[in-house]
Amino acid sequence: MTAPLRNDVGGTASEASGTGTFRADVIAGLGAARKSLPPKYFYDAAGSRLFDRICTLPEYYPTRTEAGILTEHAADIGRAVGRQAILVEFGAGSLVKVRTLLDALEQPAAYIPIDISEKHLIAASGELAHAYPRLKIMPVVGDFTASLTLPQVSGGRVLGFFPGSTIGNFTPEEARRFLVEAGRTLGADARLVLGVDLKKAKERLEAAYDDAAGVTAAFNLNLLSRINRELGGGFDLSRFAHRAVFNSELGRIEMHIVSLEEQSVAVAGQMFHFACGETIHTENSYKYDLPEIRALADASGWHIEDAWTGDEALFGVFLLSRS
Ligand code: AVJ
Repeated sequence: MTAPLRNDVGGTASEASGTGTFRADVIAGLGAARKSLPPKYFYDAAGSRLFDRICTLPEYYPTRTEAGILTEHAADIGRAVGRQAILVEFGAGSLVKVRTLLDALEQPAAYIPIDISEKHLIAASGELAHAYPRLKIMPVVGDFTASLTLPQVSGGRVLGFFPGSTIGNFTPEEARRFLVEAGRTLGADARLVLGVDLKKAKERLEAAYDDAAGVTAAFNLNLLSRINRELGGGFDLSRFAHRAVFNSELGRIEMHIVSLEEQSVAVAGQMFHFACGETIHTENSYKYDLPEIRALADASGWHIEDAWTGDEALFGVFLLSRS
C-alpha cells in the first residue's frame, strides 16, 4: 500500500475528522423550517455496523442482488477493460465488493479506493493488501462528490467502480454532476461500473427500508444517539419513530425521524422545538428505470455499453463507457 493521498477534506483537524462540520450541519439542519440531516452522518461505528446488518436482511435485496450480478458478469467486465486496468472505487467503505472485480481483472495495475474516512480506508486497505499481496493499492482520502486528484500510475484502461446504489443518495441533477466529474477524473478511455437500484412496486421498496426486525429503524434513530454522544444532545429516542415512504412523484424512498409528541430538545447548547408529527428528513434513496438511466448517462458524457438487471429486474449494474 502506498501512503494515502489526501485530497482537501476541510481545513482544520476537527473538520478532517468530521466533528466541526457535523456540529454545524446538525445545527443548520435542525434549525431549518423543514428539518433535515445529511445521510453521510449515519456511518459512525455503530451506524456502520447497523448498515452491515441491513445488507443481510431478507427485505433488503440490493446488496445481494448486486453481488450476484457482479459475480455473474465480472468476466465480461474484465474482458471489456483488458490487461493492467487501473481500478478506482468511489466511496470504497470496507473494500469487500471490489474483490469480485479484482479477481476477474487480468493483472490489474493498481487499485485506488477513495473514501472520506481515513481510519477505515487505511484499515481496509491493509486487509486487502494482505489478501492481494501483489496488488498496488493507492488509497485516496477525499470526498468523492468533490473534484479529485488521483495518484499518477501507469497501466491500461481506467475502470471506475461506484456500487451499492450510493448514487441514489444524490438528486438526479447531483447524480448527473457526479458522473460528469467522474468522467473528468477517470479520463477519456475509462469505463465505469455503476450499481443502481431500480423502480418497482412501492410495497417492495418500502419493506426494504422498514424491515420487520427493526434494523433500519435502529440505523435511522442512531443519528439521534450519535448527536447525543458527540454533541451533548438530549434526544429521548422513545419519543421518536422511524418512517420510510416511497415518494412516487419524485421517484425516491424518503426516510424520516418522526417526533411522536410536541417537545423541545437541547443540542450543542441550543434548543430545538418539534411539533407532534413533525419530521427530520434523513435520507433520499432515488430509484431509476432503464430509460432514466439512459438519459442520465447521455446527459453526463457516458453511454451504456452493457446492462445487467438480474432476477426480477430488482437492481441494475451498468457498464458505462465515455461517449
Ligand atoms: C447506501 C445509500 C445505497 O439507499 O439503500 C439503506 C442506504 N438506508 N437502508 C440505500 C440505506 C437505509 C443505502 N445506500
